[in-house]
Amino acid sequence: MLVMEATARAHSNIALIKYWGKRNEALVLPYNSSLSITLNELYSDTTVRFDASLKSDVFMLNGQPATEREQGRVSEFLNHVRQLGNVSCHAAVNSQNQVLTAQGMASSASGFAALACAATAALGLQMNAQSLSRLARLGSGSACRSIYGGFVEWTKGVRSDGLDSHATPIACEDHWDLRILFTITSTSEKQVSSREGMRRTSNTSAFYGEWLATVDRDLKEAKHSVIHREFNRLGQVAEANALKMHATMLTANPPFWYWNETTIRVMNQIQSLRDTGIPAYFTMDAGSNVAVLCEPESVQAVRTHLETIPGVQKVVECRPGPKPTLLKGATKV
Ligand code: PMV
Repeated sequence: MLVMEATARAHSNIALIKYWGKRNEALVLPYNSSLSITLNELYSDTTVRFDASLKSDVFMLNGQPATEREQGRVSEFLNHVRQLGNVSCHAAVNSQNQVLTAQGMASSASGFAALACAATAALGLQMNAQSLSRLARLGSGSACRSIYGGFVEWTKGVRSDGLDSHATPIACEDHWDLRILFTITSTSEKQVSSREGMRRTSNTSAFYGEWLATVDRDLKEAKHSVIHREFNRLGQVAEANALKMHATMLTANPPFWYWNETTIRVMNQIQSLRDTGIPAYFTMDAGSNVAVLCEPESVQAVRTHLETIPGVQKVVECRPGPKPTLLKGATKV
């Protein structure tokens, strides 16, 4: 009986310039390019075992059988890998997240990046980082950025087959000692998935056109700020870009938002801290949790303030993190 197994760790990322909207849903091709920081403390460890004796794919997430929807997404992704490896057998996937699942903590990014690395390694496929990035993108758009460490850009590409839509590294994790304070305001599952949120927004929001008209400028500004380590410039454009993305949701039909009361309190607190001379900026993905950007010299003060906000459950301090690693190579039994 043939069994092929591998385990990989991939880190999550936080977008400073957001990916929001797909020009091709099946191939996960975005309308706009985006930029993120890979995070050292938030990651997924995923083991994939292709096993000829399995009757169907099995997906365990954090020690529990995953929901039907999650199983479906993983199976669909494994079909791409099976096609690449020219195999037909099913797989057992076991994934452990050091990231909250489905609450704007980018668990799909680390999850699908780890799955792409582990599944291809299990089959012994020789993939370079660019091909892995394209493959991870098919699971979840933001996952394509988690194939690299440090500061990463996902170039949207223009081709209809998606070959030019993948991430590229801008600067490695040692380039800049930034701190990202992940501020958890809720652990319950969000009501609107990012997939549905993007679809609804790009189809119905009157602001979506403005989002697309200005996001390239934001990206250029963010990239320049990263390369030259200009903290305030980066913080300002990242915060503005996040608010702009969230504004497209408020103006969708029907409208929706991911924020809760604590999210708003955190945003208020960060703006007040800036008024007192402590430089810090916020950004939120499709969820209620907030990522606060700051520099090492102010991280303790910012953290203390965040921890005293009513409703804040936990603050996780991150730095720019590494690219994925293979924890256990392919074994054939
Ligand atoms: O990768 P997805 O399908 O979970 O979409 C992620 C979208 C945002 O997190 C809101 C933005 C981003 O660029 O990560």
